Amino acid sequence: MPTPPDTSKTLKLERYNSYLRKIHSTKLINASSKLLFRATLLAALLLILFFTITYPPLSDNPHHHLHRHSLLSTSLFSVGGGAAWEKQVRRSSTPRRPNGLSVLVTGAAGFVGSHCSLALKKRGDGVVGLDNFNDYYDPSLKRARQNLLKQQQVFIVEGDLNDAPLLSKLFYVAPFTHVLHLAAQAGVRYAMQNPQSYIRSNIAGFVNLLEIAKAANPQPAIVWASSSSVYGLNTENPFSEIDRTDKPASLYAATKKAGEEIAHTYNHIYGLSLTGLRFFTVYGPWGRPDMAYFFFTKDILQGKSIEIYKTHDQKEVARDFTYIDDVVKGCLGAVDTAEKSTGSGGKKKGPAQLRVYNLGNTSPVPVGRLVWILEGLLKTKAKKHVITMPRNGDVPFTHANVTLAHKDFGYKPTTDLATGLRKFVKWYVGYYGIQPRTQKESQPTEE
Ligand SMILES: NC(=O)c1ccc[n+]([C@@H]2O[C@H](COP(=O)([O-])OP(=O)(O)OC[C@H]3O[C@@H](n4cnc5c(N)ncnc54)[C@H](O)[C@@H]3O)[C@@H](O)[C@H]2O)c1
Repeated sequence: MPTPPDTSKTLKLERYNSYLRKIHSTKLINASSKLLFRATLLAALLLILFFTITYPPLSDNPHHHLHRHSLLSTSLFSVGGGAAWEKQVRRSSTPRRPNGLSVLVTGAAGFVGSHCSLALKKRGDGVVGLDNFNDYYDPSLKRARQNLLKQQQVFIVEGDLNDAPLLSKLFYVAPFTHVLHLAAQAGVRYAMQNPQSYIRSNIAGFVNLLEIAKAANPQPAIVWASSSSVYGLNTENPFSEIDRTDKPASLYAATKKAGEEIAHTYNHIYGLSLTGLRFFTVYGPWGRPDMAYFFFTKDILQGKSIEIYKTHDQKEVARDFTYIDDVVKGCLGAVDTAEKSTGSGGKKKGPAQLRVYNLGNTSPVPVGRLVWILEGLLKTKAKKHVITMPRNGDVPFTHANVTLAHKDFGYKPTTDLATGLRKFVKWYVGYYGIQPRTQKESQPTEE
């Protein structure tokens, strides 16, 4: 009789095997969960690092941003640019004459900014521009001015006045002695279409610039563009710096007036040296396409009719047209006589200079005469359409008293409207490749 299988032994063996299997699978689970844990930890660390770099904690102190950005200046996340960008800023800002200035020119791709940048560079000062190249008017004209500056080794940083980290970095890389602040949303009429752009550039942007300047060490002296439009509906004639400026006729004028008050505050609290320049209708080569002398020229050449305003009491509208070279001399005079700011690192150490000057031509010309001069230069009769001035922010006349600027830095305009317009038309026909009527058969020649 066969002996029955020893079931107890088989059972034991099976139990032992299943025990071994369990141990094995537990080890496997343990090993894989350890691996999973490590991978998760690594991913979390990488994520933390990424967010710390990309979204830093907010701080009121611009130097906080500055420190972060200077640490990362050669990385992908750097503000402005990497080492090559910093080198360009440093090179462009370095003066080439003994005791030369180092000037940050905001709005350097603009009309007045490009001329001032070239003039500063020409006499050996270091110049770095800042401009956001906005499309308020044809940006290709701003790019052409940028090219002109590039040929003279003036570097324009592309950026906005409201970009605090960028401005901080600029001051970190190049400790500017002066800021010539010309960036703004210009134009009186456009304020009815896009009011916020005036607040962004002329108020928020200006405050941002002053915040960075006040925190800089050393603080720069600041010369900035206000406007004759602050005189608004002023009836005193000629306009003097002591006249009332509390009746602005446009939002543009109101933002410039606000700028003057803001300048007072930063001078008072932080010891910033501030000079406001009230420009009177600046014109000339490389000018602004939104200004009457410019679009009149374009329209006359294209045979389009032009609108000439008369005042509500049927008088001619007149402007104190000021030639760009005279304004540039005024700007440089103001820069050269600007005293140092007295504060440092956001703390005032003593009273600082606070000034406002008119920069005009001192001889208002009726707009009708401007058109007459253009007709002569363009050898073309304008199709004139005289209308009553709409209430869009324009004022009936402007006339500068420049005694103060003359006394303090020898400002003396020397270009009359006919001479200045001749230079403008010569540039205009050359730039846009137009053959003036007198030269129809021949190529335009350089003077
Ligand atoms: N041209 C005049 O007749 C006149 C008269 C009175 C006052 N102003 C003032 O003079 C200054 C220069 O005027 P302009 O005729 O050369 O004007 P513009 O428009 O040619 O130049 C201003 C430049 O600033 C730049 N800009 C504007 N907002 C900016 C921002 N937020 N950040 C960076 N760049 C910005 C623009 O791109 C432009 O290139 C302005 O402040 C203007 O208000 C000019």
